[in-house]
Amino acid sequence: YPILAQQNYENPREATGRIVCANCHLAKKSVDIEAPQSVLPDTVFEAVVKIPYDTQIKQVLANGKKGGLNVGAVLILPEGFKLAPSNRIPAEIKEKLGKLSFQSYRPGRENIIVVGPVPGKLYSEIVFPIISPDPGTDKEAHFLKYPIYVGGNRGRGQIYPDGSKSNNTVYAASVTGKIKRVVRKEGRGGYEITIEESSEGREAIDTIPPGLELIVSEGEFVKADQPLTNNPNVGGFGQGEVEIVLQDPLRIQGLIAFFASVVLAQIFLVLKKKQFEKVQLAEMNF
Ligand code: HEM
Repeated sequence: YPILAQQNYENPREATGRIVCANCHLAKKSVDIEAPQSVLPDTVFEAVVKIPYDTQIKQVLANGKKGGLNVGAVLILPEGFKLAPSNRIPAEIKEKLGKLSFQSYRPGRENIIVVGPVPGKLYSEIVFPIISPDPGTDKEAHFLKYPIYVGGNRGRGQIYPDGSKSNNTVYAASVTGKIKRVVRKEGRGGYEITIEESSEGREAIDTIPPGLELIVSEGEFVKADQPLTNNPNVGGFGQGEVEIVLQDPLRIQGLIAFFASVVLAQIFLVLKKKQFEKVQLAEMNF
């Protein structure tokens, strides 16, 4: 969950460029982000994050049953960019937002926005309403080209903050040896697998939580780290980036003025040529 990132990491983007969700959501899947190539100061625009997956598939839930996938995302904007205040968001963008509730990653880090978990069936495409800063009033903001980073996830993670595994990952044998017993646990399900260690003759017990399917059976010989279960994970995390230019309106006006002056200069050159041709004609008649 994004909240786990908020609680455990000061900055969601590590020095290597990796977004921290990937530390617990181990499978890699694609995400896509669309944003305007440039924006004017103090302007509301939308950044669209796409977290595609087959919405028909189901995943293993914490209780071992099957259910739909949820999605979540973190959007890392340049300093000064932030969530647009509700009264500034135009109606046509508001329509696309649905009932999403966006949050800043941390007080004072308004440029980092998280959302989710929300049902993936409804929100595999998430529209973030963003407002750009105004370098005229905000001294920290500059007319430059900036990166926007995004991380998006569908499906449950593999590791909890305390380092323990969720039931949405592969479980492997802790030791090398022969599987002596497989006991299905009463109640919620899951298994207890007793392995007789080859070297010491000791017994090790590996506990498999509910929701996983065993791919080994009693009497079988397994090596340490050999998978005992299938890999139930159907989700995954992905990250991406786009570039956005905070554009100075004066620059655009200057460019237009320059184009106009070029066009005028061309027209006057043609006129001058016509005038000169008339003079040439007149000279020939003498
Ligand atoms: C579940 C997103 C960071 C561990 C989820 C879910 C979402 C999500 C959407 C629900 C999936 C579902 O129900 O189908 C994110 C995003 C993150 C992030 C966007 C980064 C901003 C983390 C981190 C950890 C983590 C840092 C580990 C410390 C988990 C686990 C679950 C989960 C273990 C499953 C919980 C359960 O159902 O028991 N995450 N996550 N996530 N996340 Fe994350």
